[in-house]
Amino acid sequence: MLVRVGSIALLASLVLGVEITDIQGPAWVSPLTGQTVQNVTGIVTAKTSSGFYIQGTPSDDIRISHGLFVFSTSTTVLGRVAVGDEISLTGRVSEFRSSTRPDDLTATELTSPASIVVISSNNTVAPIVLGADRSPPTQQLSALDVGTDGFLSAPNNQSRIDTVNATLQPDQFGMDFWSSLEGQLVTVRNPVAINFENSFGEFWVHGDWPVTGKNGRGGLTITFGPDGVPDSNPETVIIGVPVDGTKNPKTSVGKTFQDITGVVQYQFGFYYILPLTAPIVVSTPDPTIPATTLVSSNDSCTLTVGDYNVENMTPTGATHIADVAGHIANFLFSPDFMFVQEIQDNSGVTDDGVVDANVTLTNLSNAIAKAANSSTPYSFIEVVPVNDQDGGQPGGNIRQAYLFNSEKVKLVSGPPAGGSLDATEPIVGSDGKVTLTFNPGRIDPTNAAWQSSRKPLVAAWETTSGARFFTVNVHLVSKGGSSSTQGNSRPPVNLPVDQRTSQVEAVATFVKSLLELDPQASIIIAGDFNEYLQTRSVFAPFGGIVSELDEISGIDPVERYTYVFDQNTEQLDHIFVSNAIAERGTKVEHVHVNNWAPSFSARVSDHDPSVALLKVC
Ligand SMILES: *[C@@H]1O[C@H](CO)[C@@H](O)[C@H](O)[C@H]1NC(C)=O
Ligand SMILES: *[C@@H]1O[C@H](CO)[C@@H](O)[C@H](O)[C@H]1NC(C)=O
Ligand SMILES: *[C@@H]1O[C@H](CO)[C@@H](O)[C@H](O)[C@H]1NC(C)=O
Ligand SMILES: *[C@@H]1O[C@H](CO)[C@@H](O)[C@H](O)[C@H]1NC(C)=O
Ligand SMILES: *[C@@H]1O[C@H](CO)[C@@H](O)[C@H](O)[C@H]1NC(C)=O
Ligand SMILES: *[C@@H]1O[C@H](CO)[C@@H](O)[C@H](O)[C@H]1NC(C)=O
Ligand SMILES: *[C@@H]1O[C@H](CO)[C@@H](O)[C@H](O)[C@H]1NC(C)=O
Ligand SMILES: *[C@@H]1O[C@H](CO)[C@@H](O)[C@H](O)[C@H]1NC(C)=O
Repeated sequence: MLVRVGSIALLASLVLGVEITDIQGPAWVSPLTGQTVQNVTGIVTAKTSSGFYIQGTPSDDIRISHGLFVFSTSTTVLGRVAVGDEISLTGRVSEFRSSTRPDDLTATELTSPASIVVISSNNTVAPIVLGADRSPPTQQLSALDVGTDGFLSAPNNQSRIDTVNATLQPDQFGMDFWSSLEGQLVTVRNPVAINFENSFGEFWVHGDWPVTGKNGRGGLTITFGPDGVPDSNPETVIIGVPVDGTKNPKTSVGKTFQDITGVVQYQFGFYYILPLTAPIVVSTPDPTIPATTLVSSNDSCTLTVGDYNVENMTPTGATHIADVAGHIANFLFSPDFMFVQEIQDNSGVTDDGVVDANVTLTNLSNAIAKAANSSTPYSFIEVVPVNDQDGGQPGGNIRQAYLFNSEKVKLVSGPPAGGSLDATEPIVGSDGKVTLTFNPGRIDPTNAAWQSSRKPLVAAWETTSGARFFTVNVHLVSKGGSSSTQGNSRPPVNLPVDQRTSQVEAVATFVKSLLELDPQASIIIAGDFNEYLQTRSVFAPFGGIVSELDEISGIDPVERYTYVFDQNTEQLDHIFVSNAIAERGTKVEHVHVNNWAPSFSARVSDHDPSVALLKVC
């Protein structure tokens, strides 16, 4: 149900005998906003508890919709009309925003319906069959997404759709396409779910029409289009709550459904199809999730390296710890070396000044040993943060840590362990080898780039053969507070993209100083970057210094993902390596233990882990 927050009020005047197409017009904002219109006729296609949809005479101009939502919660009004009735009515044209977020668009609707006359009954309206009658464009969302990174360009929030109010280009841009069908009845043939349902039971799909970026599971991955501009997957749509009060089934990535017919409506930041009734599941993907094929060997230079954002791991979340441990033991095969993020302190979310996480990490490494039937639990290291200064769940003091097989690698000895505010620097030690001033340590922790965010955890390591390598474990500032991809602000607001860019710069500065001392240094940077590689501006500081593992290992671009959010399958977690490692040959796999889970509640973390096979000497 729409929550009424406000509508744009203009001076009222009276317009007689208008068509729905006159109300919708070819642009974003109705030409008749604020005006009272009389003798609007249309056939009722759907009824909800807050109004009904009518459809009038179509236009030859595909930019112009002939569907319209009529808002009313009056049982008298709703009782006057039935689906199939051809009616005539009076009302006021308004642009309605269903949320309080100014970065969302408005939907055109008719309010204060009156003088409802039922002209005839039992009429049928043929839905537009998507994929047959009309198909959505597959790359760009809006003409206003200017910049080299398309919808991911920085700076963003440079213009607003309703202010520019251009005429629609439905053949070119996804938002224009869906807007040109606003209020109309459409059918999605052979829909495929591309995410789990959200907390309202709504879920994203694509139908039987051309799509790009489709991965092996059925989701649509953020990739680059043929023109080199990021592809925003505009050929997707979210299925809302059914208008007849039935409940949507639970979904997961790759589930398929019988054809869905419903009305197109913009609400809560996205173009929806509100189905006439609950969709019916046709097939569910194979629940078997393959484990990694990359396994540890006895070669001292070759390491299996895991990376996993374990999502707010507390010391006492017994099930969560056991589930994550099961993933690491049974799906990642206990890599020699693990980068982990989101380890909470020993008191979890209790905000009591405790910052150590040694209990959390001990419990995790014991649980992994138990799941792996191993008598030698992982060793671990961390640098404890300053209380409540690194963001994340309040009181949890999330931080990155390393888990490592001490029979395979050990910390380079000599330098002291850094404290939360010590900036570690690469230096040449008395033995002539590059080491760190603090080991482990943090990169430039008082730099403003790290404000309210996790500082990178750096360490220098030695293999059993005495070779050295360096690691940087990152968890960059999150995208919280960003606008929806189908919002009013263009390009969409990506918060705080400037801070994330500064964070990558700080890491790049550190890595450069290390490479200046030893151009052949073996360096691994891994973790949760909270950003896609397609946001090229953020990763630009890494250019020429380190390479992203999916790219150099030849992973198919559609299979490069560790996360699914709204309509996109995407990669937030990355592993970068220095040239010395890249040149020795690399392998990487993303293990979809969470994004391929059979249900939202069966996920253990919001991120998928990854495993790499790297030669550090
Ligand atoms: C939006 O564009 C339409 C069609 O060009 C025009 O009729 C209408 O007045 C515009 N509205 C605003 C608020 O700019
Ligand atoms: C317009 O509507 C009014 C009242 O709703 C009705 O009296 C009138 O006949 C209608 N005019 C036409 C041309 O349909
Ligand atoms: C509409 O159809 C229903 C059921 O098919 C029938 O009972 C009703 O009489 C019809 N109404 C009109 C106005 O034709
Ligand atoms: C986007 O820009 C508008 C001004 O055009 C501003 O009001 C709004 O707060 C901005 N949104 C964000 C999240 O910065
Ligand atoms: C690795 O070494 C262990 C102990 O030396 C041995 O049992 C095992 O077979 C070796 N594995 C491989 C793959 O060579
Ligand atoms: C974690 O460790 C603490 C202290 O050793 C223990 O009391 C607790 O039961 C452990 N929790 C889990 C989930 O292993
Ligand atoms: C955690 O660290 C504290 C302080 O160093 C120590 O007393 C405690 O035994 C450690 N707990 C575990 C489980 O390692
Ligand atoms: C651990 O042992 C159990 C019981 O013997 C077995 O089912 C399981 O597969 C083993 N796990 C691993 C990772 O070897």
